[in-house]
Amino acid sequence: MMGDIEQLARPRLLEALEPQPSDALLAIIGMVRRDPRPHKIDLGVGVYRDAAGNTPILRSVKKAERLLNETQETKSYLGGEGDVRFVELMRELAFGPGTDDRFIGLQTPGGCGALRLGVDLIRLANPAARVFIGQPTWPNHIPLVTVAGLEVVEHPFYDRDTQRILFDEMMTALEGAQAGDIVLVHGCCHNPTGADLSPEHWDALAEIVTRRGLIPFVDLAYQGLGHGLEQDAAGARLVIAASDQALLAHSNDKNFGVYRDRVGSLHVKAPTAQIAATAYSNLLVLARTMWSMPPDHGAAVARLVLDTPELAADWRAELNEMCTRIRGLRARLADFDPRLAYIDEQNGMFSMLPLSPDAVAELRESEAIYMAGSGRFNVAGLSDHNVDRFASAVVERLPA
Ligand SMILES: Cc1ncc(COP(=O)(O)O)c(C=O)c1O
Repeated sequence: MMGDIEQLARPRLLEALEPQPSDALLAIIGMVRRDPRPHKIDLGVGVYRDAAGNTPILRSVKKAERLLNETQETKSYLGGEGDVRFVELMRELAFGPGTDDRFIGLQTPGGCGALRLGVDLIRLANPAARVFIGQPTWPNHIPLVTVAGLEVVEHPFYDRDTQRILFDEMMTALEGAQAGDIVLVHGCCHNPTGADLSPEHWDALAEIVTRRGLIPFVDLAYQGLGHGLEQDAAGARLVIAASDQALLAHSNDKNFGVYRDRVGSLHVKAPTAQIAATAYSNLLVLARTMWSMPPDHGAAVARLVLDTPELAADWRAELNEMCTRIRGLRARLADFDPRLAYIDEQNGMFSMLPLSPDAVAELRESEAIYMAGSGRFNVAGLSDHNVDRFASAVVERLPA
């Protein structure tokens, strides 16, 4: 009987854990929800919103979901590679037509899963590889790399107060990288700054990675939301074409608006088809220990959209609508005051305002305007009827 067992030692496990701070953006979501003011503006959360402030399911996605519902006959296991046709379609979307058998890819739970799988592959192949990451960056990049056991080298990327890409500083840092080190770059619509590399920057990046034997790892999470599908992938294509080996983490959660369905893929370019096949077999083993198989629904829907010409055309139109709305809001902000002009030169959902933490808190308290403490705001969270109120509240609080 249990009662008769003498306990010789108390188990000790969970006592060793340190409490962790909660996610700052989740705290903002909570504050917005509790704020009763009807004119509140939520620019914290990183999802696209339409002019009415909603994040609706795209028409093309809804139709594909209905089609899937009617035609899908089994929910049996798919396998670790996920939906193979989906991956093929996404490879073409990211790289354009004509990739050869040095390129392999598999479906992952979102862009986050692709990044995690990619860094695990790097660690397996070369635990000494260091990952160069420009600052500021998406807050999950560094934890994703360090949890896999790789060393991160942070370098400057953007100065929030002058709104300049610190490209020379970035190049100087990369001159200190060794052959086999990894350069993690945002493909487009940089999160959190909106500041994307210019074609000249991409050329210079391609030159340095080739000359120094570095390996680009492109995070392409917002393809189509900056200047369109082709232009948004141009930099990634250029730097990967110049490289013998490269990785690309692709997310469809934003461009298909299927955030919670976790849709993404990891693509790898190897020096030969044989090495690509070996890398693929290793990716399958790594994925097996993390999520075993990726979730099917969202990828199956994206595949159906792209494989059905009317739905594909509709999706492209909807993506274009999202992109155009964001561009329109950026132009409105830029027109409002010369100090906001840089916003129109940036891309995607986010830009950063050079506001002090006190000014960000004041905007929240007196104007019911919510954004991240860093000054990052979601442009798509604005609408025609509040963009001027937002711009004027911000301009009043910009440093002299
Ligand atoms: C730069 C960047 N990379 C990757 C991701 C991850 O995307 P997903 O939601 O598909 O995992 C995000 C999401 O916000 C992001 O901003």
